[in-house]
Amino acid sequence: EDIAMILDLARSFKDINDRPIKKLPTLRGRTVVNLFLEPSTRTRTSFEIAAKRLSADAVNMSGSASSTVKGESLVDTAQTLSAMNCDIVVIRHKLAGAPYVLAQNMTAHIINGGDGKHQHPTQTLLDLFTIREHFGGFSGLKVGIIGDISHSRVAGSLAPALTSLGAEVTFVAPATLMPARPDVLGAQKSYVLTDDLLASFDVVYMLRIQLERIEGAPLPSLREYAMLYGIDARRLALLKKDAIIMHPGPVNRGVEMTSEVVDGSRALILYQVNAGVAVRMALMYALLGGDSDGTAA
Ligand code: CP
Repeated sequence: EDIAMILDLARSFKDINDRPIKKLPTLRGRTVVNLFLEPSTRTRTSFEIAAKRLSADAVNMSGSASSTVKGESLVDTAQTLSAMNCDIVVIRHKLAGAPYVLAQNMTAHIINGGDGKHQHPTQTLLDLFTIREHFGGFSGLKVGIIGDISHSRVAGSLAPALTSLGAEVTFVAPATLMPARPDVLGAQKSYVLTDDLLASFDVVYMLRIQLERIEGAPLPSLREYAMLYGIDARRLALLKKDAIIMHPGPVNRGVEMTSEVVDGSRALILYQVNAGVAVRMALMYALLGGDSDGTAA
């Protein structure tokens, strides 16, 4: 029900985002802090745009510009932001559980903008929005999540959400990038991307190889990975007529997909980015928009 509520709200905000005048007065006087202690293009920018479209004041703090580089602890950062009475803190952090630590130490609403290899819930909401817009629902859909699953917070949020909504999820990855227990996330697994398996998917969700999180050498080479798991023109031609290709970004062109696939009509990557603003507006509205004290959520 919570997911459906957010997606329904996002539908209304998507329509507003397509108008020439996109600003609403809903969150005037509210303050949203984007505390991004890991790099981000899409998530940070879309939270900032979403806050501004709702007339909230948006403040951006990056890792290099915050006092964390001087050794300030996350709890001290939280208490400092609390003292400034901000209403929402969006946090991205390299450690799993960082949003939970903030939530324990702040009265502001905390939104997880991606924590380590753990979860990326707002990415999942925009992905669900994209899938629902395309297929009208989730029941019975076959979703292949392909790539670096074991380092992916995107898969950590998306797979359980999809299975709870009635879709069937299969992780496809080499053994070195497959989590030990895909079943815990509700997913089946395959170590090979056969033509038949690819042709069975309604949604082909490609994940980036996260070189920054990988230790050791789980792949002989990116070239070999692209040959075994990447989508190129030949594999594209195997897809179901109505199947879509998704990717959370940033894309490693030529690894997960060739450029003709990234830029082709089956890939909804930029639609996902566009939906991200509406979904993040919906979340902030749900948290703060109802009552003046923010108790609506
Ligand atoms: N999908 C995603 O989280 O992208 P960014 O790292 O650019 O925010």
